[in-house]
Amino acid sequence: MIPNQWYAILPSREVKRGALYAVKRVNLDLVLFRDAEGKLGCVVDQCPHRGAALSAGKLAGSHVRCPFHGLEFDTEGNCRRIPANGNASKEDISRYNVKQYPVQELMGIIYLWFGESEKATASVPFFHDQIDNSFSYSEFPDHWNAHYSRCIENQLDVVHVPIVHYNTIGKGNKTLVNGPKVLYENGMLKTSANNEVDTGQTPKKPDDCEIRSLYLGFLFPNIWINHISDKLMVLIYFAPVDEENTILYVRFYCKLTPFRSLNALIAFFGKFANKRIERQDKRVVVTQKPAASTLKSGEKLLTGDGPIIKYRKIRQELKEST
Ligand code: FES
Ligand SMILES: [Fe+2]
Repeated sequence: MIPNQWYAILPSREVKRGALYAVKRVNLDLVLFRDAEGKLGCVVDQCPHRGAALSAGKLAGSHVRCPFHGLEFDTEGNCRRIPANGNASKEDISRYNVKQYPVQELMGIIYLWFGESEKATASVPFFHDQIDNSFSYSEFPDHWNAHYSRCIENQLDVVHVPIVHYNTIGKGNKTLVNGPKVLYENGMLKTSANNEVDTGQTPKKPDDCEIRSLYLGFLFPNIWINHISDKLMVLIYFAPVDEENTILYVRFYCKLTPFRSLNALIAFFGKFANKRIERQDKRVVVTQKPAASTLKSGEKLLTGDGPIIKYRKIRQELKEST
């Protein structure tokens, strides 16, 4: 994990008012809930009193109440009530506060700040220049038994397309990989597949290739798009569960027509095509060893792996700079 980053971890709609939501993300057991105003809170799912899972408790108004001895905590993790001490108690109970993680919501995604809370930045990563609320979208989750870095690398991999997806998006036997060109601008890693049928030509060097209108974009630490056109995109956020598990949330964005409901319908059906492609990837990525990728992995990389090499370099730099 790269520390001090906003990780997209969950769709907002999963955390409903009036209920606790237990989930494992970024190697932590967490419980999420909303207060009476709908404000989101995220605390460690372990009571500081004697360790019971808070998620086995209840939401009491705006507080999560531990199932064991009834201690209550607000969305900031502050302990607000200890029944055994009596309601009249004036004692300072701040030492019972539970560890809380900063969370934010944007475009229907919950982001969690993993790192030092005081370093949390105001804005979270999203493709604002590509996607706004005029799009309709569909979304589905899928569990991969793989480290999130491997899942991300797969989405930046232009070499695998004609092999893994030989009968879907990689049809046509374009096995020769030109470039690809890789850019890192304004925090976005960008690349474009430029593959061709092999007729004996020499692959073009990355600098002789270009970023096309159909490009792949990635924002650290875990959000990616396939910009098919200005009106059609696939977005994936790779929610890290632990060292060996990731949930991919795959969104299909559409605004092909002036009608929202028709766009929503296209997005709904687009989901099935995406699922088929994504399952082709998953079958192979879950077999990769070691589970997580690193810059000095000992893997024998190809010229076409340029986007993956860049991803690894930036990831390493971010890890070292924080
Ligand atoms: S363990 Fe939670 S109140 Fe005692
Ligand atoms: Fe793929």
